[in-house]
Amino acid sequence: MRVGIGHFERGPTLSIPLALGRVVVVIPTYNEVENLPLIVARVRAATPEADVLVVDDSSPDGTGELADELAEKDSQIQVLHRAGKDGLGAAYIAGFQKAIADGYDVMVEMDADGSHRPEELPRLLEALEGADLVIGSRWVKGGKVHNWPRSREALSRGGNAYAGLMLRLKINDATAGYRAFRRSTLEKIGIDEVDSRGYCFQIDMAMRTVRAGLHVVEVPINFVEREIGDSKMSGNIIGEAMWRVTQWGVRDIVKRPR
Ligand code: GDD
Ligand code: MN
Repeated sequence: MRVGIGHFERGPTLSIPLALGRVVVVIPTYNEVENLPLIVARVRAATPEADVLVVDDSSPDGTGELADELAEKDSQIQVLHRAGKDGLGAAYIAGFQKAIADGYDVMVEMDADGSHRPEELPRLLEALEGADLVIGSRWVKGGKVHNWPRSREALSRGGNAYAGLMLRLKINDATAGYRAFRRSTLEKIGIDEVDSRGYCFQIDMAMRTVRAGLHVVEVPINFVEREIGDSKMSGNIIGEAMWRVTQWGVRDIVKRPR
């Protein structure tokens, strides 16, 4: 041990505020065999105190088996295997339910493809000290998107505008998939009733959090489009989001006192 005058030994610098408790980063995967080892290594390096839960929907490319191999070598990595591809929303719900049962205090959402940089997670978690949900936002000042085609940016901006209008949400990036929830938030908003399967899950969760009177904070992020593998975004996923947002919006208008 090196002890000198004016020096004292300290453990490694903490990347996560202690008061938040135990943190788990939930990573849903479908055919991410090349991305998974990269993202897991980055999370473990950026936030060594946090555990990782991979939720794989029986990816045909062997992502699930690879996740098992990673978990064998590192006790802070766990894997939840599901029977088949059932949507990003369903995968997160299953992951959150397991994380709640396992006693975690904070649940993080992160894509496997590198779009959500683990190096920015400490900043999200710092903000969670004063919030019930933190959203890593592309569409606030300081937020950026790298390598997205115009069409994809238009879809995201359009989707956010429509959801904002229909649901009167004052969130700039309600579809964002980089988030940190307190366990108490997931318990209050009733995740067992969430049945959005695709990416409108993100809008659903944001809406429920706001409706529950909880505090949402948006933190700017640098979203980097994937370099390896393919997006699972599809016409069906967009259709589900449009249909559900319209339904929720109409339901609100009918219920609203006049
Ligand atoms: N287990 C499981 N099951 N994982 C899935 C499924 C599924 O059915 N569908 C997608 N995933 C995983 C992917 O493997 C990836 O790790 C993550 O979910 C995001 O999927 P992408 O296909 O890369 O999403 P994207 O880049 O098109 O969309 C991103 O931006 C959207 C908003 O613009 C995501 O962050 C979305 O959450 C976000 O709504
Ligand atoms: Mn992606």
